[in-house]
Formats: sequence, C-alpha cells, structure tokens
Amino acid sequence: MNIPFLKNICLFKKKNAVPVDKSTYLLTPDAPFAIAEAYRMLRTNIMYSAGQEGTPIYAITSAMPHEGKSINCSNIAISFAHAGKRVLLIDGDMRNPTVAPLFKESSKNGLSEYLASVVPEPNFIPSKYENLTLMVAGHKPPNPAELLGNKRIAELFEIAREKFDYIFIDLPPVNMISDATILAKDISGYLFVVDSGHTHSGAVKRALDSIRMVGGSVIGFALNRVNPKKSDGALYGYKSYGYSRRYYKNYYNRYNTKNSDVETEEQETDAE
Ligand SMILES: Nc1ncnc2c1ncn2[C@@H]1O[C@H](COP(=O)(O)OP(=O)(O)O)[C@@H](O)[C@H]1O
Ligand SMILES: [Mg+2]
Repeated sequence: MNIPFLKNICLFKKKNAVPVDKSTYLLTPDAPFAIAEAYRMLRTNIMYSAGQEGTPIYAITSAMPHEGKSINCSNIAISFAHAGKRVLLIDGDMRNPTVAPLFKESSKNGLSEYLASVVPEPNFIPSKYENLTLMVAGHKPPNPAELLGNKRIAELFEIAREKFDYIFIDLPPVNMISDATILAKDISGYLFVVDSGHTHSGAVKRALDSIRMVGGSVIGFALNRVNPKKSDGALYGYKSYGYSRRYYKNYYNRYNTKNSDVETEEQETDAE
C-alpha cells in the first residue's frame, strides 16, 4: 500500500466523558492546541496533494460507521475556511445525516431534494464560520445510492466549483453500502479515516480495494481517536478487533435498505 499517512487526530474528550452536545466536537478558536494543530497539518497535507487546477472535491470516508468521518470532514472544512478558502461542506450521507445536527441547521431542503429535482437549485447555507457554506443531507430518501448516481450530482459539482475553492463531501462507509464509490469519477481524492482503536486492518484493505476498483484515488489516511499518551503516531499500531456484524447491520438498517445497497458479505467478526 502506498498511501500517505496524513495525520492522527486525538481524542476530543476524556474516555468516559459523555458529550451532551455533538457540536462541541467542532473546531473552535479555543480548541486545544493539539487538536487545532492536527487539523492545520492535515489541511497542509491535503493542500499539497491537490494536483489539478480548479476546485478539488474531496470525499471523506472510512471502512465502517462511527469511525469519525463526519466530525473529521466538518473540522477539515472548518480548517480550510479558517485559512481564508471558500469552502462548501456537503453532507453526502443521506442515510445518517450529521452536518445539520452538528452545525445546528435545519435538515430540510438539502442534497436529497436537489438530487431528486424537488428543488431546482442547490440550497447552500452560510454557516456561522466565515467562508464555510453548508449543504445538508435533506430528507432521508428511500434510494440514496440511486440518487447519488444520477446526473444532477455532476450539475451540483459544476455549480459549486464556480463558487468555492474547496468542496468536501462526507460520505457513508465503503464496506456497508455503495454510495461512497458511486461518486468516484467526480471525486478528486478520498481521505480515508481509520479509527485507531477499532478498525480491523482487513476492513481497511477491503474498503481501499473497493475504491480502487472504481478508479478512485485515496489521497491519504487520517488516524482518528488517537490517545496521544499511548500512540506513537503510526498507522500500523491499531488493534485488530472490530465491531460485530450484527451491530453494523442494525446501524444501517435503520434506513430503508430494501434496495439491497447494504452489502451482505461477511463483515469483520470480533477477534479480540
Ligand atoms: N476524535 C474523536 N474524539 C472523541 N470522540 C470521537 C472522535 N471521533 C469520533 N468520535 C465519536 O464518535 C461518534 C461518531 O463520529 P462520526 O464522525 O459521526 O462518525 P462516522 O461519520 O464515521 O459515522 C461521534 O459522535 C463522537 O461521539
Ligand atoms: Mg457520518
């Protein structure tokens, strides 16, 4: 595997602390130095990976749910906005929308409405962060994968490229559903999040293979939830145990998955 390791992201909270409000995970001017610095370095590394001219579209994904895609995608977008770039953050996980609750915006009139042609124009919402614009996921549709595959997505990116310097799209996990790989031809690069404590290396490999199979390019890894006291910052240090298959099935079965866009292949079994 020849994919750069871009940055590790520390734990935001102490281990047993229960955050009452998810928006506390968003980067603020008073964020701890280690966290702010991690996102600055991630930003620099991503900027250097941009090869082509024009507005790049970066997708954030991972092998499994709950690895920190949405939090990291949002914070990377905030970090680029802090640097004075005009940034659009799109919630591309219409099954498990996160941008609206994280930024405390209405979840109505978002990506799903635009892709389903319910509304003629994309609804770009200015955020409370200067330079950062949001597009929420919208109403949960019955057929997210089909919607992402329709030609409106290319039109959306064309409109957005005129207005923004960077576009980030938060996508569902690769090993669960096909949404993340459907977009491959429009994505400049995938940033791959790995949960330092939970992701099985086999799951990562399978996800990377799926991205490669559709011609997608992975610009690098971000290792999430690193305990700075225990970590040496290396990607190979994560433990090889996974959540159970039943757990994930339940998680993504909350949505309408009868179009069989949830993979039925065996997921990782617990191996601790
Ligand atoms: N770096 C982190 N520090 C502490 N908690 C985290 C971190 N990253 C993720 N989490 C926790 O994991 C949950 C899932 O994160 P999220 O970004 O929504 O995952 P995903 O989008 O991959 O499903 C968050 O609500 C938060 O409680
Ligand atoms: Mg998410």
